[in-house]
Amino acid sequence: MANQDKVIELVQLTDPHLYADKSTGLYGVNSYNCFEAVVAEANMQSIDLALVTGDLVHDESEQGYKHLRLCLQRLNVPTHLIPGNHDDLTLMRSEFKHGMISCDKRVVVGNWQVILLNSQLPGQVPGHLNEKELLWLEQCLSNKSVPYSIVFLHHNPVPVGCKWLDPLGLDNADKLFELIAANSEVKALVWGHVHQEFVEQRAGVQLLSTPSTCIQFKPRVDDFELDLLPAGYRWFRLHADGNLESGIKRLASLPEGLDADASGYGI
Ligand SMILES: [Fe+2]
Ligand SMILES: [Fe+2]
Repeated sequence: MANQDKVIELVQLTDPHLYADKSTGLYGVNSYNCFEAVVAEANMQSIDLALVTGDLVHDESEQGYKHLRLCLQRLNVPTHLIPGNHDDLTLMRSEFKHGMISCDKRVVVGNWQVILLNSQLPGQVPGHLNEKELLWLEQCLSNKSVPYSIVFLHHNPVPVGCKWLDPLGLDNADKLFELIAANSEVKALVWGHVHQEFVEQRAGVQLLSTPSTCIQFKPRVDDFELDLLPAGYRWFRLHADGNLESGIKRLASLPEGLDADASGYGI
């Protein structure tokens, strides 16, 4: 029988933007090497469960997902994936059909249920939760056998304060918040996509975003600008009494080759 008092150690990695070609990446940064380094950093801590929340592969290549597997299997823990605007869901599902790394959309660990939503709108950058996803969330939340929930998706459901980026977030966040407001067991809503840390509280729910494992976007600016911060990941400690601790862990140095003067964007 599982120990219900155990603290669950969860890590969220996001936006690795891998390519079929392992020698390339974004804005001068080799995204494979960077992802490998963040995975190694995360692996220094104890982990029960890992999530990778979208923009897994930038060029929608089969090989990119194989590279992802190669890195993630070093964690050697159950790992769940959701797509971002860059992913090819068919390729992703076919690569991660069985085994420890999966596209399963719900996992229960101790007193916590982790719910994963697909906010991808194929061919578009902004996100949307279709009826099926909203129904899925509603069904998960109506199961009262697990006392606490945490919800993950790729797109930001609230503006993060970047004028260029905010129109590219989730376009029907009101429906998501309606469901969350009606279910007080939801303790946090977490996303990627914005390549920066964001922390806010809304009616007892922590709203959190996470830096990319590759390049970072500067917070609170009107136009696209890279942020000169190292890549990182978010850690969570989920307590059996519903308490949730979370923080960001970054690598010690900026990624090699970063083109800090880059303009334009490719999220
Ligand atoms: Fe991204
Ligand atoms: Fe994205």
